[in-house]
Amino acid sequence: MDPTDTTLHIIFGTMTGNSEDLANRLAKRCADESLPYTLTSAEEWPLERFGQIKRAILIFSTWGDGEPPDDAVDFCEALYAHQAPVSQLEYMVVGLGDTSYDDFCGCARRLDEALAAAGATRLCERLDLDIDFDRDFDAWTDRFIASETDLQRL
Ligand SMILES: Cc1cc2nc3c(=O)[nH]c(=O)nc-3n(C[C@H](O)[C@H](O)[C@H](O)COP(=O)(O)O)c2cc1C
Repeated sequence: MDPTDTTLHIIFGTMTGNSEDLANRLAKRCADESLPYTLTSAEEWPLERFGQIKRAILIFSTWGDGEPPDDAVDFCEALYAHQAPVSQLEYMVVGLGDTSYDDFCGCARRLDEALAAAGATRLCERLDLDIDFDRDFDAWTDRFIASETDLQRL
């Protein structure tokens, strides 16, 4: 792992495509600003790869009663159980959910807590998004991309 590598690895977990859509939007903003990134679904992300990267953004919805999306169950349960090499990782989590459910953004919250407990470092606080997520996500993306472009200039 190169400690100076600023590549942002965007990983998403989705059931009906909202998280994937936001991950794609973030990736496009990175591309527009020539910021290095990768974009991968949770089911296609090998857990050992966490040991080879420095920075990740996880964008995950919550289903069932606080559960991960079906295709992301293995990924999430491994992270909840601290079974991935994340101690050097800098990360942030974006949660998609619905405040009408008891466990609002439960999957994202558990991922965030598990990564911190395993020694990873938050790049910034978790963003939990309700069903009308567009405006909040775009405002967050504007701030995030501005801080990333500042970082690239250093
Ligand atoms: C059957 C069902 C269960 C859900 N369970 C939760 C939940 O427990 N907590 C929550 O915050 N949102 C819950 N949601 C809301 C979804 O997370 C939300 O619609 C999200 O935008 C879906 O994103 P996705 O398309 O990326 O999967 C649920 C939605 C459905 C239809």
